[in-house]
Amino acid sequence: MCGIVGYTGNKAAVPVLVNGLKRLEYRGYDSAGLAIDTPTGILVEKAKGKVSELTKLLAEHQEDSPIHKSQAGIAHTRWATHGPPTTENAHPHASSRIALVHNGIIENYKSLKGKLEAQGYNFLSQTDTEVLALLVDSHYDGDLFQALSSALKEVEGTFGVACMAKDEPGVLIVARRGSPIVLGVGENETIVASDASAIIKHTRQAIYLDDNDIAKIKGGDIDIRSLDAGVVSREASEIDWSPDAAEKGGYEHYMLKEIFEQPDAIKNTIRGRMDAERGTSMLGGLGLTPREIVDIQRLVIVGCGTSLNAGMVGEFATEDFAGLAAEVEQAAEFRYRNPIINSKDLVLAISQSGETADTLAAVREATEKGALVAGLVNVVGSTIARETGRGVYLHAGPEISVASTKAFTCQVATLLMVALKFARSRRMSVEQGRRFVQEIESLPGLVKQVLAKDKQIAEVAARYVQYERMFFIGRGYLYPVAMEGALKLKEISYIHAEAYHAAELKHGPIALLEDTMPVVALALEGPGKEKTIGNIKECSARNARVLGIITEGDEEAKSEVDDYIEIPACRLHAAVIPATVALQLFSYHVARLRGCPIDQPRNLAKSVTVE
Ligand code: F6R
Repeated sequence: MCGIVGYTGNKAAVPVLVNGLKRLEYRGYDSAGLAIDTPTGILVEKAKGKVSELTKLLAEHQEDSPIHKSQAGIAHTRWATHGPPTTENAHPHASSRIALVHNGIIENYKSLKGKLEAQGYNFLSQTDTEVLALLVDSHYDGDLFQALSSALKEVEGTFGVACMAKDEPGVLIVARRGSPIVLGVGENETIVASDASAIIKHTRQAIYLDDNDIAKIKGGDIDIRSLDAGVVSREASEIDWSPDAAEKGGYEHYMLKEIFEQPDAIKNTIRGRMDAERGTSMLGGLGLTPREIVDIQRLVIVGCGTSLNAGMVGEFATEDFAGLAAEVEQAAEFRYRNPIINSKDLVLAISQSGETADTLAAVREATEKGALVAGLVNVVGSTIARETGRGVYLHAGPEISVASTKAFTCQVATLLMVALKFARSRRMSVEQGRRFVQEIESLPGLVKQVLAKDKQIAEVAARYVQYERMFFIGRGYLYPVAMEGALKLKEISYIHAEAYHAAELKHGPIALLEDTMPVVALALEGPGKEKTIGNIKECSARNARVLGIITEGDEEAKSEVDDYIEIPACRLHAAVIPATVALQLFSYHVARLRGCPIDQPRNLAKSVTVE
């Protein structure tokens, strides 16, 4: 959620840190700060608000001042967990001897704070991170590596942490448990970050720390140990996307860029995974033998937010085509509900970031219960990808906008490939499999056709800008699309949008319908359409304006709605993707016309690493 950057090497540290913070701003952004190693001690600057507020403070220092000459420092963008977003609560937190930045949550911070207060420490902030900083100080006797190791042994909770000491110039000590830390390996320099997007400008060689790793870094020298054991060896791997992939590329917002990237992103997801001849998919990363695929008795899909919505499509398609029992579960509930799981279950954890705390906890619970556990993840080397050890990477490229777009459509494309794999091993014929392969391969083209309607969708969106609440309704495969459409709209436009199964409308929500409450109705050709048209009539009868997402050329549907967006004709499991793209563009244009900060909606963070 928060972002960490650190630098030690032979260049000025401040530009590297600030650039890294800007890259990480999408993760969380209510305050920012940095600590810089200078000949007279550690200099800390912090500001409430965006990174641009911090750069204003830095500009007040003369260009040739020690802060701008320093070649080592740590920096942070914060997403508040303990204490409101104020300058005092911003990181780094420091004593007279050390400074520290932290992602995660120190669960036993209250008892540690009491102990430190008894030793005479005073606290300036309300954060758990300051407790960690002063705990490290209390262990410090000239060796920061030892001090952090000892402090972390007392800590319960999660951390990705970077710290430095006044008396150890150029040295950074970093550690992780539950919150990622990646080391960018350069020539005589190392860039530390919580996310590879902050290091890609400098190097593509990355070392991902494992849980309980602690490292001492000075320039290009990296010494990694385990908090529990001795020296450990971690290989560097190459980041497989370019710096350009993380730039806006001429688009006004990352979200719009990522919406338009979807034809290519989906192509990358399905590349090399389709077997047109045998009418099946090839998902070697799942590491399942044909026998194991046949033996699996249930697919359990877990995820949060957008990934959960995608999971619902996977559930429907797996039951529909493979006849295999499938369930989708909120990852946040999974381990508390004590689910019935056994070795014949395949648990599929869906996560764009691969770092979502609730999804990771579900992965651990399913592993504990003996299930086969696989990840469906975008970020290579992320914790869920590594802990599951088997799965399918999305290859969607970096998703920077907080609102997830291309990850959703690539997740759905992958889930269709998973359903196809199970279907062909069960009841689907080769002919039906070939048709399914063609449908998956047609997805990039279908998305392109919707993107070509961007201008028309913007015009439709202009008619919905003034509303403060909206319903989305759909049935079958289109119900998760309604869920995802409402989620996109509420998170970026702040319009109160709720999704219901179209049949549920009559069981309560219809009481809210009037002319101030428009309805977005997913009424594509296919099973359930006529019933949804009936629901549209009920909405219109209550004076609600209706926007129909309809099949191209469906005159009957057109005549029932006030506005419409047409989607190319295809079967509904495939239509999920173009229909969602239409709603992504609709939400984008509504939010843009309302003047919302689209890439960084209030209160949200890209990667939710706390429960
Ligand atoms: C919504 C959104 C979130 C994420 C959710 C899970 O646009 O982005 O709902 O989908 O926080 O994140 P991942 O997929 O990274 O586990």
